[in-house]
Amino acid sequence: MKIKIKYSLFTSVLLLVVSASLGQQQEYASWTLEEVQEAIDHCKVKTERTIVNLEGYDKSPRTIPADSKHWEAKPTGGWTSGFWAGILWYVYEGTGSEKIKIEAEKFTNEIETILSVPVKSHDLGFIFQCSYGNGYRLTKNGAYKKTLLIAADSLSHLYNPSVGTILSWPAQVSNKVFSPHNTIIDNMMNLELLFEASKLSTNKKYYKMAVSHANVTAKNQVRPNNTVYHVLIYDDRTGKALRKATHQGFSDESVWARGQGWGIYGYAMGYRETANRKYLKIADKLAKAYLKRLSKDYVPFWDFDDPAIPNTPKDASAASIVASAFLELSELHNKRAKKELYRTWAEKMLRSLSSPSYLSGSRNDAFLIHSTGNKPRNREVDIPIIYADYYYIEALVRLKKILQSEMAGKQMPKR
Ligand code: GLY
Repeated sequence: MKIKIKYSLFTSVLLLVVSASLGQQQEYASWTLEEVQEAIDHCKVKTERTIVNLEGYDKSPRTIPADSKHWEAKPTGGWTSGFWAGILWYVYEGTGSEKIKIEAEKFTNEIETILSVPVKSHDLGFIFQCSYGNGYRLTKNGAYKKTLLIAADSLSHLYNPSVGTILSWPAQVSNKVFSPHNTIIDNMMNLELLFEASKLSTNKKYYKMAVSHANVTAKNQVRPNNTVYHVLIYDDRTGKALRKATHQGFSDESVWARGQGWGIYGYAMGYRETANRKYLKIADKLAKAYLKRLSKDYVPFWDFDDPAIPNTPKDASAASIVASAFLELSELHNKRAKKELYRTWAEKMLRSLSSPSYLSGSRNDAFLIHSTGNKPRNREVDIPIIYADYYYIEALVRLKKILQSEMAGKQMPKR
């Protein structure tokens, strides 16, 4: 109890300092376990509604168009294919619902069909880690382990040893847009599948590839001001960095909010998997650069440098990715000040996302509204997108486990 009082006092002081330095940031109270559970239960209700509306298991929700209340489902195969199964696994973890677990298994099993075709992009990490990865973490089902190893091996075929990174978009090489070798910041997320495979097998090549990818990306893709480039184009034979560009950002030199989020999350995860403090430092620097640019309601505009701000869409997906990453950072850091800093910011981000401004409520079947997929191409702009919901429920479940551990008076186990 004594610890709890000290903790709250420290949090409040920190909150005051942070908000004073930022002017008019919205103030929010920290979450209680009951509130987190309520938010998770709300997600369960939404999820059950979607299950009823989906036909079959070979399609998964991707977006809710502006004129609809229900998810538009896409055939299994695209980069977002694993998020729905992942949401179901997190809802199962957060509620214990056996009914949801059965649905998670059914949607997960369907995703394996992708592996019968040659690997098309780095997204195998997103697809398989979110679905099979979470399934394996929660059930230790040997069939999931087998699939994860096949998916990781498939992903490893995109690794170019001359460059030291995975080729993110083979299609953009064929059509000569980002050629001869491209690596996007999002690709940091897919390293988790390689780290997982190295733990599940005796083959350490996956670990070495992931580490090389993280190092080369840190060298070439992080700007001096600690924001990130979206796309790096390399010479595929010499490994020389040829060009820095964007695909989904406002401009090559702008700061695409979700890209910054992938970087923060990716390097936090990299530190979790390697214990290399260099990655933790990078995550810290990227996080600082993100916070410096963040809107007063803790949800960023889709690109921090869009000159149309504030008359341009927000991206709730970036906020949920960063909230989840910040909770991980709060657990990875040993120093109390850093732990508290990340925890406080994450809780504020989650409060804002859980407010009527971003929670869909009765508007539609998603958890969150106001995400932006690809603004430059006017695709999936200011609508619900499945990966925003995935990282939102992941963050809620992470927060629940942290609060439970604190109540039990012990440290949170590693993910
Ligand atoms: N990884 C694709 C995106 O963030 O839109």
